[in-house]
Amino acid sequence: MAQQNIYDNEIFFAGYKKIRENQVNANNLFEIPALFSMMPNLKDKTILDLGCGFGEHCKGFVERGAKKVIGIDISEKMLEIAKQENTDSKITYINMPMENIFELTEKFDIVISSLAFHYVEDFAGVVKNVYNLLNENGAFIFSQENPLCTCHSGGQRWTKDENGNKLYLNLSNYGIEGERESTWFVDNVKKYHRTFSSIVNTLIEVGFSINKMIEPLPTEEILSQYPDYKDLFHKPDFLLVKCTK
Ligand SMILES: C[S@@+](CC[C@H](N)C(=O)[O-])C[C@H]1O[C@@H](n2cnc3c(N)ncnc32)[C@H](O)[C@@H]1O
Repeated sequence: MAQQNIYDNEIFFAGYKKIRENQVNANNLFEIPALFSMMPNLKDKTILDLGCGFGEHCKGFVERGAKKVIGIDISEKMLEIAKQENTDSKITYINMPMENIFELTEKFDIVISSLAFHYVEDFAGVVKNVYNLLNENGAFIFSQENPLCTCHSGGQRWTKDENGNKLYLNLSNYGIEGERESTWFVDNVKKYHRTFSSIVNTLIEVGFSINKMIEPLPTEEILSQYPDYKDLFHKPDFLLVKCTK
């Protein structure tokens, strides 16, 4: 099965990099704080990061005491930045699709993945391999686009009033799982929709115990600075899950 490697597309890469360079983005405000709030004490832990991108989290894990971190990503361009900006003797970056992690020969205390699973067709296959790569009682923590976002399959996402305020999300095809094509910087960006129950049942069937889920929402403080994020009360952008082997 050939995986899409959209982050190596020049136009996509430039657009994505620009968004992440702007410090006010949904990752920094919502996804990253939620992700790190789920992490156990990282002192002396070994960590595998699936779809590590620029390696910012890998560096963050080392700063929090991790002994060894492996970051893998399908995109050479993302890893080039990781090696320039987030290098450390405790971090190894490997250019590989996460579908191939069964090739890794060591085990980890923690496996994490931040906003990459919605690009992966065979979620169950990756989850099985994650389970096998974890030490007993190891933690698996991941974020992805919320299923209320990934289900989108065309048409207007929102119904708005005459002033452009978002009134409600136009939800359709939630129950139809599988590939979606969208336009984000470029056409034909492939993502995969799975329902909440599929995600949760896949984890349970593989043997994980689910500890916590978060769908981040804005605090009063964030709303006072960035009022547009009130729309997250209609539809959260992210889903985060923590589970244990
Ligand atoms: C939205 S970025 C997130 C990067 C990083 N985890 C973060 O949160 O800053 C998604 C990353 O997943 C990577 N990715 C997508 N599909 C992948 C796959 N099948 N295997 C490995 N990496 C993949 C992309 O190349 C990209 O770097």
